[in-house]
Amino acid sequence: MFIVFEGIDGTGKSTQVRLLADALRQREKEVVTSKEPTDGPVGTRLRQSAEKGRLSPQDELDLFHQDRRDHVQSLIVPALERGATVIVDRYFFSTMAYQGARGFDPAEIRAINEQFAPRPDHVFLLVLEPDVALDRIGIRDGKANAFEHKEALQKCHDIFASLDDDFIHRIDASRSPAQVHAEILSFLA
Ligand code: TYD
Repeated sequence: MFIVFEGIDGTGKSTQVRLLADALRQREKEVVTSKEPTDGPVGTRLRQSAEKGRLSPQDELDLFHQDRRDHVQSLIVPALERGATVIVDRYFFSTMAYQGARGFDPAEIRAINEQFAPRPDHVFLLVLEPDVALDRIGIRDGKANAFEHKEALQKCHDIFASLDDDFIHRIDASRSPAQVHAEILSFLA
């Protein structure tokens, strides 16, 4: 089973990945968690660019795709093939939202990714108003990075809101982590 968490910064994805992985480890033989951008060389470069000054839109898009190709090949596909449950914090829906917010066509981004990136069984889209999400980031990190400015986050929020597939579940992330987790588990019963 392949599970993805999506949502703008500050919606609590990493907490929910942890809670879900802990819960599924009680019943699945192997649960693998991962995230994008990855901790590999390309993902690390992308993360640094958020602090040190942003890449051009095209370079950034290319690097997110390169990072994802590596991730799919080296981790996601092998884990799914050996029967593991894979939970990933961000996937190509983030590229649609964030690089879409920088001017690329989300539908084209999706088409490129669907050529090489397996489709998840479930996408949990954590939904929170950008103002609330930014407050949470402020409390958490003190300072927003270049990916996290209000106007850009609002665009990302709108692109996420436009996603419409039966494997995408919208989850109200304004509630407590335990309530959010309980709703997510109900989709996997
Ligand atoms: P984030 O999940 O916030 O990682 P961390 O908390 O470890 O720094 O991801 C960093 C930023 O990368 C986030 O603001 C969203 C952005 N991003 C994209 O712009 N495109 C993508 O395809 C992905 C996966 C992430």
